[in-house]
Parts: sequence; C-alpha cells; structure tokens
Amino acid sequence: MGPKAENAADSRIKVSIYTIAFIAALAGLLFGYDTGVISGAILFIKDQFKLTAGAQEGVVSSVLLGAVIGAAFSGGIADRFGRRRSIIVTALLFAVGAIGSALAPNLNMDIAYSQSNFHITIPAVAVIILFRLMIGIAIGVASYVAPLYISEISPADIRGGLVSLNQLMITCGIVVSYLVDYMLSMGQQEWRWMFGFGAIPALILIVGMISLPDSPRWLMSKGLVEQARGVLSRTHRKESVEEAINEINKTLGQKECSWAEVFEPCLRPALFVGIMLAFFQQVTGINTIIYYAPTIFEFAGFASHNVAILATIGVGMVNVLMTVVAIWLLDKVGRKPLLYVGMAGMALSLGMLGVAFFLPTLSGALKWIAVGSVLCYIASFAVSLGPIFWLLIAEIYPLRVRGRAMSLATVANWGFNMIVAATFLTLMEKLGKPGAFWLYGALSVAGIIFTYLFVPETKGKTLEQIEEHLRSGKSLRTLKAQA
Ligand code: BGC
Repeated sequence: MGPKAENAADSRIKVSIYTIAFIAALAGLLFGYDTGVISGAILFIKDQFKLTAGAQEGVVSSVLLGAVIGAAFSGGIADRFGRRRSIIVTALLFAVGAIGSALAPNLNMDIAYSQSNFHITIPAVAVIILFRLMIGIAIGVASYVAPLYISEISPADIRGGLVSLNQLMITCGIVVSYLVDYMLSMGQQEWRWMFGFGAIPALILIVGMISLPDSPRWLMSKGLVEQARGVLSRTHRKESVEEAINEINKTLGQKECSWAEVFEPCLRPALFVGIMLAFFQQVTGINTIIYYAPTIFEFAGFASHNVAILATIGVGMVNVLMTVVAIWLLDKVGRKPLLYVGMAGMALSLGMLGVAFFLPTLSGALKWIAVGSVLCYIASFAVSLGPIFWLLIAEIYPLRVRGRAMSLATVANWGFNMIVAATFLTLMEKLGKPGAFWLYGALSVAGIIFTYLFVPETKGKTLEQIEEHLRSGKSLRTLKAQA
C-alpha cells in the first residue's frame, strides 16, 4: 500500500472507531442527564404533591438505589449475552423510565374491588419513584457496560481517550440537565418535560446500537471468530487484524466462566484496585459538589438562587472542558501522572475551601474564594478520577470475567455515592463546614498514596498484555506504560 492509500485507510478506521464510540457513549449522556435533572425537577414535584422530606428523599435517591441494583445484577448478563445487547436493553429501560415518569398521574390512584371489599390507594408520587428506580437500574448497567464495550472495540494506543468519551458525555449530560432545568424553571408542571426529554437520547441510542456490531473480544469469547474478524477490520489496520485475533485467542480458556473465577486469587489485586478507586472517586466528595453546588454557594454568601444556579452551570462547563483535556492527555502522559496531579489539585482546593469557611475574617472574599476553589476542584477531578476510574476498570480485568468484575467495582461506586450523598449535610453539621471539606481533602491525599502503591499504568498496553501481566501473579503496580 502506498502512503496515500495508507492514510486513507487510517482515516476510514478513525471515523469508524469514533462513530462507534460516540454512539455507545450516548449511554453516558443519559447517565449524566438523568442523575442531574432531579435537582431542578424535585423543586416542582415537592410543591405539586406536597411531599414530606422522606418522600422527597425517596424521589431523589431512587435513582441511586436503582443504579446499585442494576450494576449488581447485570455483570453475568453482559458476559453471557454480550455488551451490545445489554446496552440496547438498557436504552429501552431509559426510554420507558423517561416516558413513564413524565406521564405519572397528578392524583393518587384508588384501586377497589367492591365484591371483595379490596381497596388500595397508590400515591401518584410512587409512580414517579418506580420509574426513576427503573432509570436508576439502566444507569447502573450503562455506567460500566458502555466503557467496557468501547474499551474492547478500541486499539490500545487511543483507548484512553475513546473510553473517556463516555465520561465526556456524562459531563455533557449533567450540563444539559442543568440548562433544561434552568430554562424550564419558570413554568408549572415542567418537571414532566424535564424527565421526558431523556427519552430522546435513549431512542437514538437504541437505533444506533442496533446498527453496531458487538465487541470483537466478546464475539471471540463466544467462538464467533469470523464476526470478530469483520469488526476488527473496521477498527484496526489490515496488517494487525490477525495479530489481534491471535492475542485475544491466547487469553481465552475453554471452560465456562463463573462468579467463582472472579474471586480467583490472581484476580483479587485487580478487584481490590477497582473497588478502592470507586471508593476514592466518591469519598473525595465529587457529588457533594455536583448535587449541592448551589447550596455551597448560598452558604458562601450568594444571596440569590439565580446566581447560585448560574455558578453551578459554570461548574458543569468546567467539568466538560477539563474532561476534553483529559481525553487529549490520557494516551500521551498516561493514567497515573494525571491521577497524581488531579488528586493533588483536589486536595489543595478542598483545603482552601475549608480555610475559606474557617476564617470569619475572610467573609467578604469568602464567596469568591469558594467559587475559585470549587472550580479548581472540579477541574482537577475532571482530569483525573472522573474519567480514569471508569477507564481503568474497563482495562484491568481479564476478558472472560470482565463484565462481572466491572459490575462489582460499579456497585461499589454507586454504593459509596449513596453513602456520601446521604451523609454530606449531617457531616457538615457534625464536623462543621471546614471539617467536612478537610476530610474529603485528606481522603484525596490517601488516594494519591493508594495510586502510588497499587495502581498499574495501562497506557499503550493491549487488554491482552494487561491480562497476561495480571495472570502471571506479578504485582499490578509493576505494569509500566508502553513507550
Ligand atoms: C462519577 C459520577 C459523577 C460524575 C461527574 C462520574 O465519573 O462516577 O459520580 O457525578 O463523574 O462528572
């Protein structure tokens, strides 16, 4: 092939891979939108249905609970029925959940059978909770199956950026949800539209995924070598297709995979890394900022709701922009350097935020220091723990147990998310505002030490090289980047 033909082939491959990754990453958009939208919608729902604090918590936390359930029960499904089918079913759940919650009745429903004297009343809000739970289940599955699918489709040298397109879409989904909430916040029953809009990307995802192939690695794990070869020829250069097939073949044993295999001694270090990264991604406080940014800004002295909400949209934008920077850097500098720099930035900005609340003399400047620290914090998260948690868990597990192992790390992520969201306001009350932020800051420092001691560098390695290293029993952290 001449250089011209080679270039044309390279661009064809690039277009093909980016299209596939982009479509799958719509799952991330839904994840971000549906977790973000509730902050605005709840204000209307609580007024319309005269909700108690408990019922409000039910509406807000049903998604998180659903996500834990979804992630917990789907690992085997992704391994058995494939990544693509799992995403399609998930997208259906997203669509039904969005439409169902948007169409929830205005009044409680009475169900009565006069013959048997049976009578029950279903509160209207229970319908919302139920459909939000369904959306949560979809989020739980989508949050890891989309990165899993993209990582198995991608060539090693650009895998970091491609998988992190999913995180980029999460951050875009969050901003879109803030904007939709903001624009609709003037009307009356607008919460219905806020929920209903989620159906649009869900339908695009269904149509898009139906037209895409499954991942070549999953196809090979099911013995579908010809189909896998077809997919690889869309995503790899002609001369490297057979090499990729041989490599994947080497990692496939004969026996059916089971949960027991996930807990084999040689895989335990990888499980530990996945679960601990989930821990650090959540306990360093990201969602206290994502969910409570307006509250923090109001504490800091911004009197008007509007300014607080606008500042929150700014936070969302910085999250998006810095995720783009992460995508650009991940395959150049590697995962670990970004984790170090990002977590150091998070620790410093949390320290500063604590100081701002600690020193009464700063009161005039407090609000600006608070905004500055929150922006630095989100920027640091966006180049590190945000994308890299989802990326690493899509890289470090062996093919035959990848779905199951990722589902465990994902359950941990949503579980820690729930714990932090449920304890943040109490923590502020008990430790004081500075104490709460310093605690998250101290945990960021612990995250840096953890990364140094246990996290592998996966830059440039094929998934099969990573698996070989893990199975050889060598410590994960000794895995070094491919030059
Ligand atoms: C986290 C979410 C968080 C989001 C913010 C994701 O990687 O898992 O909990 O809300 O990033 O960008």
